[in-house]
Amino acid sequence: MMLIEGLVIAVLLYSVLADRIKQKPTAFYTGTYALTAFVVAYYLLGWNMKVPGVINKWGMDLFQRGALSTATFIVVMFLGTITKHNRFSTRLLKIRGEISIIGCILAFAHNIIFGVVYFPMLVLNPQTLDGPRKMAAILTIILLVLMIPLFLTSFQCIRRKMKPKAWKRLQRLAYPFYYLIYLHVMVLYGINARAHILDIVIYTAIYVLYTILRLRKYFLMKKKKQARARTSAVQQKTA
Ligand code: HEM
Repeated sequence: MMLIEGLVIAVLLYSVLADRIKQKPTAFYTGTYALTAFVVAYYLLGWNMKVPGVINKWGMDLFQRGALSTATFIVVMFLGTITKHNRFSTRLLKIRGEISIIGCILAFAHNIIFGVVYFPMLVLNPQTLDGPRKMAAILTIILLVLMIPLFLTSFQCIRRKMKPKAWKRLQRLAYPFYYLIYLHVMVLYGINARAHILDIVIYTAIYVLYTILRLRKYFLMKKKKQARARTSAVQQKTA
């Protein structure tokens, strides 16, 4: 259920703040860094144990467990499946780069809070990790290796320095990154699938819907391209 809560908050927040995020992206990045630093301190210094559980359950855990950052990545990827944009989706589309940067910064809190536990275990005492957790930890290293270049090249100042083709090619890493998040979650939830059955169904439904919509756009664009090629071939012949 945490992902649904994350999606509602992400869509509401980004659509309401779209103009301001476009005008002052650096201010929002700085604010998100500060929030991420607070979340890391909140959990690593044990402040989460000193507050009523409901604050964690419906609030802070969204950041700790990576649900809000993943909800942000889901919004970014679904924007790429739309063939005809309306006013609402156009509002989000114009800040697609900015919200993917915010999503990455939010993910750092999750990576640090769990990374300080899992990475030393993986490197120094791998035998203490059972199969699924070892696999999950290795998957997260691949996730980070993919996320960092995507994060950095989303900044306009870096993007401008790259050739458009090279930039576009690098952005294709977003697909393996996106699907690896699903695998990461399924490997972890598979450890106790019964307890996480609702989350497993929600993640799977969202990823299946995304895959169908993305393939639909791909084939529609391909058909359009072929029709255009045919028309211009006919025009050249008759010219
Ligand atoms: C960009 C990288 C990452 C993303 C996007 C990501 C995303 C997620 C998501 C969406 C969940 C499920 C949250 C939920 O709905 O309950 C999750 C769970 C988890 N992740 Fe990650 N993760 C990343 C990296 C990491 C890293 C680096 C580690 C640790 C080394 C890690 C450890 C965990 C653990 C232990 C859980 C289970 C949490 C729980 O059940 O409370 N993740 N991750």
